[in-house]
Amino acid sequence: MEIALLNGPNLNLLGTREPEIYGNTTLSDIEQRVSVHAARYEMQVKAFQSNHEGALVDAIHAARTSAAGIIINAGAYTHTSIGLRDAISGVGLPTVEIHLSNIYARDAFRHHSYLAAVCVGQISGFGWRGYLLAVDALAGHLGLLP
Ligand code: DQA
Repeated sequence: MEIALLNGPNLNLLGTREPEIYGNTTLSDIEQRVSVHAARYEMQVKAFQSNHEGALVDAIHAARTSAAGIIINAGAYTHTSIGLRDAISGVGLPTVEIHLSNIYARDAFRHHSYLAAVCVGQISGFGWRGYLLAVDALAGHLGLLP
């Protein structure tokens, strides 16, 4: 079973970007750890990062025919993008929203997510380990856990 791991703008800079907020772990480390964790559930991870909204929309559409679910950190597009929201609801795949930081403990403009209402749920504030929680959440939703 394949799952799509999608990361949005500026997340390619993880490791050096505001490490006091986002930690020191690079995106490729996170992708690697997610793949290892997902293998426990015999899930394969197809990872994709883009700084471009339309490319993320295309990746969500592509997941429709190849993936059983989506884990997405849409970065700043979380707070702005009706296009990403419509793509998620349009493909109908179970989707878990993830943020490294606790978006509710930060700037007011980060408190609203356009994606949350069309996702199964949201994980926010647990750093890179939140991605592993997202894998567990998706596996549970897909019926792969006892
Ligand atoms: C983020 C939170 C967003 O508000 C921010 O724009 C990001 C990263 C997070 O993972 O904590 O780019 O999604």
